[in-house]
Amino acid sequence: MRTYLVTGGAGFIGSNFVLYLLGKHEDVRIVNVDKLTYAGNLENLRSREGDPRHIFVQADICDKAAMEGLFDTYQPDYVINFAAESHVDRSITNPEVFAETNVMGTVTLLNVARKAWETGDGTFGQHKFVQVSTDEVYGSLSLENPEVFFTEDTPLCPHSPYSASKAAADMFVLAYADTFGFPVNITRCSNNYGPYQFPEKLIPLMINNALQHKALPVYGDGLNVRDWLFVEDHCKAIEMVAHNGKLGEVYNVGGHNERENIFIVKAIIAEVSQAVCDPAINETLIGYVTDRKGHDRRYGIDPQKIKRDLGWYPETAFEDGIVKTIAWYLDNPEWVEHVTSGAYQDYYREAYGQ
Ligand code: NAD
Ligand code: DAU
Repeated sequence: MRTYLVTGGAGFIGSNFVLYLLGKHEDVRIVNVDKLTYAGNLENLRSREGDPRHIFVQADICDKAAMEGLFDTYQPDYVINFAAESHVDRSITNPEVFAETNVMGTVTLLNVARKAWETGDGTFGQHKFVQVSTDEVYGSLSLENPEVFFTEDTPLCPHSPYSASKAAADMFVLAYADTFGFPVNITRCSNNYGPYQFPEKLIPLMINNALQHKALPVYGDGLNVRDWLFVEDHCKAIEMVAHNGKLGEVYNVGGHNERENIFIVKAIIAEVSQAVCDPAINETLIGYVTDRKGHDRRYGIDPQKIKRDLGWYPETAFEDGIVKTIAWYLDNPEWVEHVTSGAYQDYYREAYGQ
């Protein structure tokens, strides 16, 4: 049986990954370590409550002693490092915590894993450290050259404090591979969407605001482009990289699904309005607001390498994924209420005895 140390497994992508692995494999053990910031919610994992293959530990990845204890106790085969501060807007108003968790947390994990995994001859056996990174480390593409994409060879050029912290972490991960021969892979994925995404990110924010007839804030001219991928396709890519990725390599993950933000917002309005038969959900809710500082214009991933080398491909078309996602939020209004209320988080800390 393989043991995965999944960090940030109570967040959006991490919890989808935990559910994906538990659903796909019988003989798997997941040690899920999460600090439970505002973005981490055990409610995401409620469907697996009592499953002995899932062990949840509330801890900070910056806490060296706690991480050493986890390695001693569970001896993980893999680390999949999702834990991060992930919201660009928050990184503009409060960058320090991004440096702490995203950079220092990653370095702490690398160091603890290196010491735990190193064998007598200085090699690392069958272990693997997968750093879940982002296409934002490459910076921004222009709208004028839509045929240009980010490849793994595109130089890193982060613009926001968030992407700077993720790029710094990537450099540490690669430095551990170069210096110690430490077994790593990095995945750099485009924008994810799907169930359990905290309603501060574009898609869940627009769905929930629309349902409440609240204004839909579109930054700048609404023509910025993001490359959207259904979260389960990202989970599948991470598993493939963990199992078959060539040591030391970076893999870009994306499904060639670039859309202008305003297209996304209008698509959500149309779908939500139809789903709940409410004509008051319409484009008059759209409000153009002051642009995000340093707003990257366009992201676009070239996923050729992961397709060619590992056989990955996205299974969910955007048209299906967005319908599934909206249906999930419509079916789970209590989730939105829970994750946005402090009382909920206190309740769950108590329920898990931590
Ligand atoms: P999220 O904000 O939903 O979840 C982050 C999780 O990390 C939360 O559960 C939080 O409690 C936990 N966490 C934060 N600080 C921690 C700490 N110090 N110690 C332990 N746990 C901590 O984020 P997400 O959208 O699920 O993103 C997960 C990872 O994937 C991040 O590393 C992010 O950079 C990367 N990524 C995200 C996207 C996207 O579109 N969301 C795309 C590409 C890459
Ligand atoms: O590309 C991968 C990245 O995608 C991840 O690394 C990040 O963790 C994740 O948060 C996401 O970053 P973005 O900044 O692209 O996502 P966000 O949902 O915040 O914004 C998507 C686009 O929508 C962006 O161009 C800003 C715009 N936007 C966002 C919000 C929240 C709006 O116009 N209005 C909004 O209210």
